[in-house]
Amino acid sequence: MKTIAVLTSGGDAPGMNAAIRAVVRTAIDNSIKVLGVQRGYKGLINNNMYPMDIRQVSDKIQRGGTMLYSARCPEFLTVEGRQKAVDVCKANNIEALVVIGGDGSFRGAADLSDMGIPSICIPGTIDNDIPCSDYTIGYDTCMNTIMQMVDRVRDTTEAHDRCSVVEVMGNNAGHLALNAGISVGATAILIPEVPFDIEKDVIGRIRRTQKSGKRHFIVMISEKINKEKHFAYKLADMIEEKTGIESRAVVLGHVQRGGSPTVRDRVIASQMGHYAINLLVKGHFNRVIAVKDSKLVDYSIRDALNIVDENKRMGKTKLNMSLYNMALEISI
Ligand code: F6P
Repeated sequence: MKTIAVLTSGGDAPGMNAAIRAVVRTAIDNSIKVLGVQRGYKGLINNNMYPMDIRQVSDKIQRGGTMLYSARCPEFLTVEGRQKAVDVCKANNIEALVVIGGDGSFRGAADLSDMGIPSICIPGTIDNDIPCSDYTIGYDTCMNTIMQMVDRVRDTTEAHDRCSVVEVMGNNAGHLALNAGISVGATAILIPEVPFDIEKDVIGRIRRTQKSGKRHFIVMISEKINKEKHFAYKLADMIEEKTGIESRAVVLGHVQRGGSPTVRDRVIASQMGHYAINLLVKGHFNRVIAVKDSKLVDYSIRDALNIVDENKRMGKTKLNMSLYNMALEISI
């Protein structure tokens, strides 16, 4: 293997830079040239790439975002778009791609591999929604960011005896809301994986804690618990109307995606980048790297995507339900 390319695609996640750094340095250590593709598959189609050296990835491990930028690329969803990407890879003698992103990015990689460009995928998304992996790069930083933001919200919520409804990201998965919700002692947590009833699961819980003397409340909701955009606003109004407690909505938004990665994200991202190149050196292609029981493992991309599809079809989730039940029990 002489030349590979690395790209980040989909929503950026803190720790992506640590992964890029590890990919570049491990590749160079194995005498492999690395091209950094800017703006994901869009950059690949447009031949937007440059050779990377070990110093270019210096002073990046502590930075959020992605030094290679990211993009969502509708053109890549067409056969013509993907053919352009393949042609660009061939013109640049790219023998394999390292793709850092979520399951949408992995689908792109799988399609390219069918067209003759192999790849290794690294799970990078704050949502932690890749079913074959216990962990995705950016998840820990994001949870910590949410926790810190809500700690601030709590100060003013407490000062005014209010209820704050905090809406967090996570796409169709409730990992962020559940874990961050536990970390801030939320009275109620609503996530897409568990059907809810506002009267029982929010109002009832607030009333119960109120009876035992609590005067301020955090309600944590995941962004896609229903079809309504920013449901937090409506929920805050409902809570105020039904309980008489003054309520406010806080939609945390993209602040959750930024910031310096935590130790956990930096270390796992470095391990994954290193592992990716070792797979290529051993001649293993079209793999998704995953964390299972605290160890790095790898799956074929198609198997990893089949697990995504199967979970969707069967309504299965990797969400830790005992953690959810514990939250219900202790957040009173
Ligand atoms: O997948 C990461 C994520 O931040 C989700 O949590 C969120 O639903 C989505 O991306 C937001 O996407 P965009 O940055 O395109 O608004």
